[in-house]
Amino acid sequence: MGVFASTDDPVSTGHEQVVFCQDKQSGLKAIIGIYSTALGPALGGTRFYPYADEADALADVLDLSRGMAYKNALAGLDLGGGKAVIWGDPDQLKSEALLRAYGRFVESLNGRYYTACDVGTYVADMDVIARETRFVTGRSVEHGGAGDSSVLTAWGVFQGMRAAAEHVWGSPTLAGRRVGVAGLGKVGKYLTAHLLDDGAEVVATDVAPRAREWVRTTHPQVTLVDDTAALVASDIDVYAPCALGGALNDETVAVLRARVVAGAANNQLAHPGIEKVLADRGILYAPDYVVNAGGVIQVADEIEGFNFERAKLRATRIFDTTREILRLADDEGVPPAVAADRLAERRMADVGRLRAIHLR
Ligand SMILES: NC(=O)c1ccc[n+]([C@@H]2O[C@H](COP(=O)([O-])OP(=O)(O)OC[C@H]3O[C@@H](n4cnc5c(N)ncnc54)[C@H](O)[C@@H]3O)[C@@H](O)[C@H]2O)c1
Repeated sequence: MGVFASTDDPVSTGHEQVVFCQDKQSGLKAIIGIYSTALGPALGGTRFYPYADEADALADVLDLSRGMAYKNALAGLDLGGGKAVIWGDPDQLKSEALLRAYGRFVESLNGRYYTACDVGTYVADMDVIARETRFVTGRSVEHGGAGDSSVLTAWGVFQGMRAAAEHVWGSPTLAGRRVGVAGLGKVGKYLTAHLLDDGAEVVATDVAPRAREWVRTTHPQVTLVDDTAALVASDIDVYAPCALGGALNDETVAVLRARVVAGAANNQLAHPGIEKVLADRGILYAPDYVVNAGGVIQVADEIEGFNFERAKLRATRIFDTTREILRLADDEGVPPAVAADRLAERRMADVGRLRAIHLR
C-alpha cells in the first residue's frame, strides 16, 4: 500500500501525513497515520500490537486511519481520520516511560491528531498519555474522560439494526426476531441486553467460558450454541458479528440464513466483492463502520467535555444514518457498503471544501 496518492483527488486516496516515532530507551516504535483532516483534527485509537515486521505495522496504520476518516465522517463528527500503531508486545513493552514518550510525539503534532484506546491500549493508558499531551480522549471518568466506549457502541449497533429491520420488515424493531450474537464481550453483552429489552429472541456464542457463563446466569433465556459456524447456520433473522474482523467470508455468506447483518466487529467484509455476494443472496448488510460508530462518538464527545446524554443522542442518530444509506443503496442500485463510502466521501468533500472560504 502506498502512502502517496497517484491521483489528484484528496478525499478518496492518499494519506496527508505519516509520522514514524522512536524512543530507543523505552523501546517505543510508533507510526501515526493521518488520512484526512478535511473535517477537523484526525481522531483514532492507538493499537499496541506485536506486528511481524514494520511493513505490517505500516499497512495496518494506513488501512485503519483511512477507515477512521470514513467512520468519523458518517458519524457526523467534525473530525478527520487518523490512527496510530505501537509496534511490540504490550505485555512486555508497555511502561510509563514508553506511553509518555508516545504522548510527547502526539503532542508534537499540535492537535492534528487525537488519540484514543484500541486493541492493546486501555483507559488507564490514556490517563498516562494525557500527562504529556492534550490531544487524547478515552480517559477514565475520574480524569474527566468518557470511560468505556462499548456502552454507546452497543447502543449505536442496536440503532443501526433497528433501521435495517425497518428496511427489510417495515418496522424499526427487533421484537419477535431471532438475533444471533457472535461474541459476548464488552459490546456483545450490552447489545444482548438491548435486544432482549426490545423483545427479540437472542441466540449467542462465545469462545470464552467466562462469557458463556455470564450469559447463562444473567440472561438464561438466551440460547447458547457451540460456535459461530453453528450460529450462522441456525435459523436466525439477524446476524450480529461482535467478535473479530473478517466475519463475512465466502464460507459464512454461503450458509448464512439471516436476512440482515448488523454488528459491532470492525472490518467484517473478509475481502472486496463479498458485499456484492451478500446483496445477491438477498442479505442486507448494515456497514460495520456506520453502525459501530457509537464508541468514537462517545470518546469524541470528551473533547468538548464529556456529557453522556449528548453523546447518547448523537449515537441514536446512527438509526437515521443507516436508514439514509440503505435508501441511497436502493436508489443507486449498489450494495450498502458502497453507498456508505459514497456518502462519507460526499461529506468530506462538501464540508471539507468550506475551509477554502477565507475568514481572516
Ligand atoms: N468496544 C468498542 O467500543 C468498539 C467500538 C467499535 C468496534 N468494536 C469492535 O467490536 C468487536 C467487539 O469489541 P469488544 O470491545 O466487545 O471486544 P471484546 O474483546 O470485549 O469481546 C470480543 C468477544 O468475542 C469473543 N470471541 C473471540 N473470538 C471468537 C470466536 N471465534 N467466536 C465467538 N466469540 C469469539 C471473545 O471471547 C470476547 O468475549 C471488535 O471487533 C471491536 O474491534 C468495538
